[in-house]
This record gives sequence, C-alpha cells and structure tokens, in this order.
Amino acid sequence: MWLKFYEWGKQYSGLNGFYMTEILGSPILVVTDEAVAEELMVKRARYNSDRPTIRSIFDSKSTGGSMEYLPLMGKNQYWARQRRLTHAYLTEARNAHYSGVMYHEAKRWLVRLIEDPENFQSSLEDMASKVMCQLTWDDPNLSEYCAKSARGLLTQMSPAGPITNVITPLWHLPEVINPWKRAERKRHDEQQAWWMERIIHTRAKMALGLQRPCFARQYLERGHKRSNLSGDYEASCVIGMIALVGVFTVAGPLSYWLICMVHHPQWQSRVQKEIDEECHGRMPTLEDAPRLPTLRACIKETMRWKPNVPTGVAHEMEANDVYRGYFLAKGTRILPLDWAFLRNETKYPDPGNFHPERWLEPSWPTYQEPLTQFPTIKGMTSFGWGQRQCLGQTLTQDELIVACGALSWCFNLKPKKDLATGADIPVPLDKSNSLLIIIPDPFQMAFEPRSSARKQEALRLWEESDARDERERDEFAKHATMTLEKPRTDI
Ligand code: HEM
Repeated sequence: MWLKFYEWGKQYSGLNGFYMTEILGSPILVVTDEAVAEELMVKRARYNSDRPTIRSIFDSKSTGGSMEYLPLMGKNQYWARQRRLTHAYLTEARNAHYSGVMYHEAKRWLVRLIEDPENFQSSLEDMASKVMCQLTWDDPNLSEYCAKSARGLLTQMSPAGPITNVITPLWHLPEVINPWKRAERKRHDEQQAWWMERIIHTRAKMALGLQRPCFARQYLERGHKRSNLSGDYEASCVIGMIALVGVFTVAGPLSYWLICMVHHPQWQSRVQKEIDEECHGRMPTLEDAPRLPTLRACIKETMRWKPNVPTGVAHEMEANDVYRGYFLAKGTRILPLDWAFLRNETKYPDPGNFHPERWLEPSWPTYQEPLTQFPTIKGMTSFGWGQRQCLGQTLTQDELIVACGALSWCFNLKPKKDLATGADIPVPLDKSNSLLIIIPDPFQMAFEPRSSARKQEALRLWEESDARDERERDEFAKHATMTLEKPRTDI
C-alpha cells in the first residue's frame, strides 16, 4: 500500500506535496511532503486530530463510550484523559530509572540468543513484551499472552487484516451469519477480560503488600479520581494498551537492525569499535549513549531506511478547513505517508541506501551538532504529528540503545551458512507482512559471540541479574509478610 501511495505521489503530488483520492467512497488526502504534514497536522491540528473509524473493531473511536484503545480513539474526553495518564506514567517510569528493566531483559535476551539462536525472532518479540509487562504489571511472565494479544489487535485494525476493513458493508451482516463479527467479539472479550484480570490481581497482591511498583499499582494507589478515569475498567484498558503498543513498535526496528547489520558489516564493525573503546569492554548503558553517536546513527538510519509504520497513521478532519485553496471537509482522512517523507531525495540524498554517515558528517543535509545529543530518533516523522504524536518516543529510543548496544557488544551478526553448499543464506531486504506496523518475514541468520570471553561474560551478567531480581522479589515479599504479621498498635 505504501509503495503504491508513493508511486501515485510521484505522479500526482506535483509541487503541492499532497494529493486527494478516495477509498471506497471515503475521501483521503495523502501527504507526501513533510512540510505539508507540519503545516496541516501541527499548525492546523485543531481541525484534523480525530481518527477514522476502523470498521472491524467495535466502537473503535470510543464514540459510544467503550474507552478501550487510546491510539484509535476519536478526539474525545476519553482520549484526552488517557493520553495525559499515559504520558505521565511513561515519564515517571523514565525518571524512576526504567532502564534497570531494559538492562535485565537485554541480558536475558543475549543468553537466549546464545542458547537458542534459531528462535531469535520470537525471543526478540518476547524481550520487547517482557519490558512492557514489567512496567505495567511487574510480571515478565505475562509476555507471551501480551504479544499474542498485541498481534490480534494489530491484525484486526490493519487494512490487510480482516476483509471487513476493506469491504466494509460485510461488517453489517447480522452477527449470527457474520463470522468476522463473531471472531472479533471473541478476540475483544478475551482481551478485555485479561486486562481486567490484571487489575484485580494487582489489587489482591496490594492487599497482601506483595505488589511491587508498576503502572497498575500506581493507578490503584492514587485512585481513579486523581487520574480522572471513570474506574477500573477504563484503567485496565489504558494500562493494557500501553503494554500492547510497546511490543511490535519496538520489535520492528530491532528486527530491521539485525537485517541492516548483516547487510552492512562495515557499519557493524564501526559500532562495535565505538562501544569497545567508549565502554572499555562493558556492555553499554544509557549513560554511555552521549559517547556512542555511531550506534545512534545506525539506529536512526535503520528506522529511516526501513520504517516500520511506512504508511503513517491516518488522522481525520474534525471540522471543515481550507488549505492552500483546497476545501477539506469534516470526515476527510489525512494520511501522512512516512515512506515518502523518508525517501525525500533533497533531505536524504541516495534515500534507497543505508547511509548512517548522513547523521555523522557535516557534508550531509541532515547532520546536526552536538554529536553527544544528535542523532536522536525523537521527533522523526515516523512518530506522527501534532496532538496525536506518539507518546513512546523516549522509551523506544532508550530500549533500542540498550538492546542494539547489547547485541553489538556480544555478537557478530552474520548470514547463516547453508550446510549443504556452504553458501550464505540470503537475508531478504524487502519481505515483510503488510499490517499497519510491519515486521520482516521470518528469515535466518547467525549470532556468533565475538569471543568466548564475551560469551562467558554475557552468561555471567544474566546469572547475576537474574539472581538479583529473584533476591529483590523475595526480600519485598518477606518484608510484606513481616509487616502483615506485626501486631497493629494504631487501633
Ligand atoms: C518505533 C517505535 C514507534 C513508532 C514508529 C511509533 C509510531 C506512532 C505513530 C505514527 C503514532 C500515531 C501518530 C499520529 O497519529 O500522528 C503513534 C501513536 C502512539 N504511540 Fe507510538 N510508535 C512507536 C513506539 C511506541 C511505544 C514504545 C509506545 C508506548 C509504550 C507508543 C505509544 C503510542 C501511543 C499511546 C500513541 C497514541 C497517541 C494518540 O493517539 O494520541 N508508541 N505511534
């Protein structure tokens, strides 16, 4: 879809930087120039910060009060308060050093890659899911279900998902003879019940003093009045949605990082050299990030070259507007086509190739100083626009620095050899699913520890981190039991 929209852009956008088309009767403005997206969706955001309806999700905009999926909501009261809460919780988590969770999960992942390299795609996804499950419910064991549930929602909301998203009248068949509605009812009910169970479980653990800090506890401690939410159901949804949204959004760039490094060994060597010199043999941390511009440049170039939301996320006009003489009626969709922004030849010379140096050398138009701060992925067009801009930019940047840094510290990422012929098994560059958030199709590659000492150190680091985690959980539980057993003197 993004390639077709891009091709039409070359044909029809002309100097405007946008063109208008219709999809099954709905008018849609496709924006192919970043400056237009800025002018429309940031400066004129009050006209166009609504979302289009997603046909195959019940009440996707929450117009009927379902309050379930923040990123899909129309611009209503639920969106406003849930956006505020999400922003506050993610910011507080960063201030409380969520990096500890990321280091812990990155170390676990390195060991899984050493022990079971074949299943790297599932352990990668699981790592991203574990980070989110720890932040939201302090329980990494929930990761498998969380990732499954994220996949279910992502498929359901994508144009390439159920046919009812494209041939929308089918959705309106009565439920008894409508397999799509029945399937969605089942998916939805299971997910909501699971989210609600998390809140109930957290409350029960809190009563025993056994719940460590996490978003669910934060909500229950402060009470719904302070958060402005309507109660537990809404809280279960907003917290569940935070967990879900951080799975594939982060797993996508991480998967593409692997592909980029396999295809560009010279950049891989430069990143490894930088890490070895700046961290003196240690696995990098976020404190090292200012001294690792090559690592940050390769992460940013991965996201530019292989964006994982290439169509962009549509907004909808909430009121009539006139833009450069064109009438944009309420209800018109606006699609900021990220693929087109990131293939702009003036801003990104040779856009079809991987050039991390465009972020590191002053001769490239995108170069920015100081290199302790730039390149940063924050503010990239891929995170969207204006009032609906992504709330997970810092978390994404931090998690990618930790995970890509750990990978480069530990492994040489290489093509896998065909055992019969000895030849490299190709790693495709352009095979992916076509959901809204794309993930590369399954491929094979090798994870070669850079030395046996590095491998041993990775195993040791995980053992140490795992033991610490277990000890901390035990101590917390022990303290809780002692507090409960102490006779009360305040009665
Ligand atoms: C590479 C990673 C990511 C990319 C490319 C990405 C991209 C986007 C995009 C394009 C939007 C819609 C923006 C718009 O409508 O203009 C969005 C919204 C959102 N993102 Fe992200 N995202 C990423 C990671 C994350 C993470 C890790 C989280 C949270 C843990 C997150 C939370 C959200 C939320 C809550 C919204 C909804 C905002 C709203 O509708 O008001 N994102 N993201």
